[in-house]
Amino acid sequence: MAVIPGHGPSTLQRPSTERFSSGKSLEIMGGSEWNMKRNLTAVPTPSWTKSPDLALAARLCEKWNSSKLYEIFWEYARLNANVLTERRGEFWLCHEGSKLTGFALARSVRGHFVVEELWGQFDGVFGDVIKMSERDLVRARAFGSQVLRGIAERPLLIRGATDNCFAHGVARALKLPWFNGLVLADRTIGAGVGPATPPDGYTLRFYAPGDEAFFSLLYRQVFSDTVSSEKFEDWATESKCRTHVALHGSERVGFIIAEKRPYDLLGDFIIAVSPLHQRRGVGGALLDAGLDSLYEMGARRAIADYRTLNGATHALYGSRNFKPRRTYNYFWI
Ligand SMILES: CC(C)(COP(=O)(O)OP(=O)(O)OC[C@H]1O[C@@H](n2cnc3c(N)ncnc32)[C@H](O)[C@@H]1OP(=O)(O)O)[C@@H](O)C(=O)NCCC(=O)NCCS
Repeated sequence: MAVIPGHGPSTLQRPSTERFSSGKSLEIMGGSEWNMKRNLTAVPTPSWTKSPDLALAARLCEKWNSSKLYEIFWEYARLNANVLTERRGEFWLCHEGSKLTGFALARSVRGHFVVEELWGQFDGVFGDVIKMSERDLVRARAFGSQVLRGIAERPLLIRGATDNCFAHGVARALKLPWFNGLVLADRTIGAGVGPATPPDGYTLRFYAPGDEAFFSLLYRQVFSDTVSSEKFEDWATESKCRTHVALHGSERVGFIIAEKRPYDLLGDFIIAVSPLHQRRGVGGALLDAGLDSLYEMGARRAIADYRTLNGATHALYGSRNFKPRRTYNYFWI
């Protein structure tokens, strides 16, 4: 499952727009020597413009994420204009003079407007020591004033993978508060994952009509978000999906929907267990059943995405040999 950013406390203050235009409060700047070495005042001002060319957006995403696992618009590979159009992508290009130096790709997702991809040139250093050049500040402020300021939707988030210095430079320069994080982990799937062994007192079965109301309720309970029963019914019964339900006696207590992606032999899932039945081995058994189903459907690699601060998911996926591959940070405007 490609998870959504998640809801922040509604009482948090939105940063004032002055933060986009004032660099005075910037915490981390290079020393004068650093800045002199990178005195790029002769370089043209970054210019951001909106573009309808979503085929170009897809190509740029593939290029800037080259050889890295990504999650963009709920996809892990093979982005194309159709996917971005169907999910209502909005796209901006950055030029410095005639040179294309960056891009941003955003969409509305479950009540948030999220700049999911944000790449650009960055001269500074992100490591144990963090340095940003004057030029980096100019670039960050240009994105703030030319793109962010023009977006009316709220809540508004930007995100960047931890290898994306530009996105993190923008967040730092504009003093954007951290909002949430997303881990992408994976593992190969070989024969013999299953059969799943539920703990004593629990059983597993495949989806049966009527389960969708339970999925919807549990989803709201553990993810603080809403997916309707109808949507769950469609999702759980798609031909590319296998859905398992965990029972305690006759009571439904958990589910997993394992989904085979149409490319690269990939699969992923959504999994949840009722809070009263967690930490008893039910989630692990459901995950084993989901991995087995993915294998039967022809997937050979499983991807899990989960929040960085969700300790239970780190433990669950770690216990089934998933290895984290990439982490995104979300920042709140
Ligand atoms: C993640 C979730 C499905 C785990 O279900 P569960 O039934 O509690 O999982 P299990 O009891 O099978 O535990 C699996 C492993 O994770 C560990 N674990 C589970 N919850 C943990 C927690 N809160 N803290 C630390 N470790 C935890 C268990 O000890 C076990 O490790 P082990 O196999 O090495 O002993 C459940 O916590 C949940 O529904 N969370 C909310 C929804 C969610 O986050 N879904 C995943 C995102 S797609």
